Amino acid sequence: MEPDVVVEMHGISTRFGDMVVHDNIDLQLRRGERLGLLGGSGSGKTVLMREMIRLHRPSSGYVEIFGERLDDISAPDLQRLRNRCGVLFQQGALFSDLSVYDNIALPLRELNELSEVLIAELVWMKIKMVGLELEVAELRPSELSGGMIKRVGLARALALEPELLFLDEPTSGLDPVSSERFVDLLQSLHRDLAFSMVMITHDLHTLRDLCDTVAVLADRKLVAHGSLAQVRQSDHPFVQDMLCGRRAARVLDTGTDADG
Ligand SMILES: Nc1ncnc2c1ncn2[C@@H]1O[C@H](COP(=O)(O)OP(=O)(O)OP(=O)(O)O)[C@@H](O)[C@H]1O
Ligand SMILES: [Mg+2]
Repeated sequence: MEPDVVVEMHGISTRFGDMVVHDNIDLQLRRGERLGLLGGSGSGKTVLMREMIRLHRPSSGYVEIFGERLDDISAPDLQRLRNRCGVLFQQGALFSDLSVYDNIALPLRELNELSEVLIAELVWMKIKMVGLELEVAELRPSELSGGMIKRVGLARALALEPELLFLDEPTSGLDPVSSERFVDLLQSLHRDLAFSMVMITHDLHTLRDLCDTVAVLADRKLVAHGSLAQVRQSDHPFVQDMLCGRRAARVLDTGTDADG
């Protein structure tokens, strides 16, 4: 049977030279869970996410995904596990000299298994799935708005129908309306596709509407981890500032948006 825990981090420490970014972090993500990862700028959120799929190697400790350890894995086995994951990078990370179509097709082509006819079908499906017009397919990333870039990045992350989706600040840089639409899109995709998800965000609406659990990174540790209500009980100053101030209460203490 497939394990119920899809990501497990054991005693992760990360150092760059003398700088310690993570000190002995343990973290679990269960199947179907949507985890929001919070922390100040430079607290190590992106690096922690990259370690979950071995885009970065921790200084000590190890990671398991889908029940397999990544520290002593072979390259083909790692690729097989990565093919079950989708990543939306913080800056979109689209290839600027490829069209939208070719950007989304890239992970499908890299499989070396699918015909161009099938790839085309899958690419068109993903473009529609993320709510983009089909005409966008021919454009280059430089011709897209910020919101469109996020959607293309998401389409590419979804190309292989991942069981596990990683999103690094998916709504940052979007205006409130685009951001809300993007959250709605992720909600409906999660209903249809039932992936597990790790999402870095500092947007409280996104957190409230999309996450089942929250983990807070500060002082090189996870200082709080649990449901949003549990995490808000923490008296850590970052949690207090971020989740318990008046602005936070306006967003988090209502089911709908009291701001607007
Ligand atoms: N490849 C690298 N080499 C050296 N230092 C790095 C490297 N990658 C990240 N760092 C450092 O590690 C720390 C954590 O970086 P990280 O990108 O994870 O922060 P973050 O929490 O995602 O911040 P932000 O909210 O600004 O995106 C930073 O001090 C950063 O400069
Ligand atoms: Mg980051």
